[in-house]
Amino acid sequence: MDRVIYLDHSATTPVAPEVLEAMAPYHREHYGNASSLHVYGRKARSAMEESRGAIAERLGVRAEEIVFTSGATEANNLALVGAAYSSAERRHLVTTAIEHHAVLHTARWLEKLGYSVTFVSPDSSGRVDPQAIGEAVQDDTFLVSVMAGNNELGTTQPIEEIGGLCRERGVLFHTDAVQAFGKVPLAMDSVDLLSASAHKLHGPKGVGLLFVRSGVRLTPLFHGGGHEGGRRSGTENVPGIVGLAKATKISFSEQDESAPRLRALRERLIEGVTRVPGSRLNGHRENSLPHIANFSFEAIEGESLVLKLDEEGIAVSTGSACSSPDLEPSHVLVAIGVPPAMVHGSLRVSTGRETTSEDIERFLEILPRAVESLRAYSPFRVGESDVH
Ligand SMILES: Cc1ncc(COP(=O)(O)O)c(C=O)c1O
Repeated sequence: MDRVIYLDHSATTPVAPEVLEAMAPYHREHYGNASSLHVYGRKARSAMEESRGAIAERLGVRAEEIVFTSGATEANNLALVGAAYSSAERRHLVTTAIEHHAVLHTARWLEKLGYSVTFVSPDSSGRVDPQAIGEAVQDDTFLVSVMAGNNELGTTQPIEEIGGLCRERGVLFHTDAVQAFGKVPLAMDSVDLLSASAHKLHGPKGVGLLFVRSGVRLTPLFHGGGHEGGRRSGTENVPGIVGLAKATKISFSEQDESAPRLRALRERLIEGVTRVPGSRLNGHRENSLPHIANFSFEAIEGESLVLKLDEEGIAVSTGSACSSPDLEPSHVLVAIGVPPAMVHGSLRVSTGRETTSEDIERFLEILPRAVESLRAYSPFRVGESDVH
């Protein structure tokens, strides 16, 4: 494959060589089951507990507050469903309309089980007003779940304020921090539950964690051997956990340098892309994660643009239809009120450790031509925004 410029880091990231190297011995030589009593088992367990301790230290929390999972989808399910099952008389959940499906569909599942859910809408930049969260909380609310940074827009949320008001009201607070983890500082003191996933920070796929503040009761989803202090049964993915710890260490230690670098690339992207006629930035310009920018183009189908850019050696994604066979536009773009003429023509660009300013310049050179050539075949014209 010729070199492709990879600008889809919020979908996943390449595993860092140091992470692969740290994991390899736990596939090759130290392959024991962490529950075994012999030397293989002890070696695996000590690597796992060291990893837990190292991650907890980075987060400023206690080792026993980290539960390893198969990723953030599981962590989010454990947070929402586990809290619901543990709160006998409280049957109301507060979340937002722009959560990842791992939260949104779990909330919908709880509705089917008879729980009630309030989906708080964000403003047009994707920001959720803490006051609106406060107003949504009821006497029987068992949990508030608000993501730290949106995976499509990049927009960040006022987690400290929301966490503060949850504490005042005696309600548990969960944040899906998948996109924020290792990218920006996390307000750990403000949250009771936090989800993260290794593959978004140059770690392996299929491993993640849920931070569970001491004293928070969660009914486990998986029943079996009582692993992870009884909170998540299943033989632990030791190589994955070692990889998650290494990826966390690297991301957290480089954060102070990488965040301003990625922010500068994002600014350049915004400046360059919004010069394309009939384009707009979706999401908040300042209150954003450093690595995600989302745009819409009039008279363009997002999927066609992704495929066109793919032909040109650029990998990006769209919120227009990617995961839905029925060509529904992204629930996030709909929730922030992207105009109908633009909601189908969205592009998400997400940068990472290996992205250079040359990559961004190359993208900015190719993009206007790609947009132009697709518009030549479009039945719609720029400016005719009532056509969709
Ligand atoms: C915000 C957010 N939450 C949850 C997930 C799911 O994480 P995982 O792939 O580890 O299940 C993702 C991944 O796309 C995400 O971006």
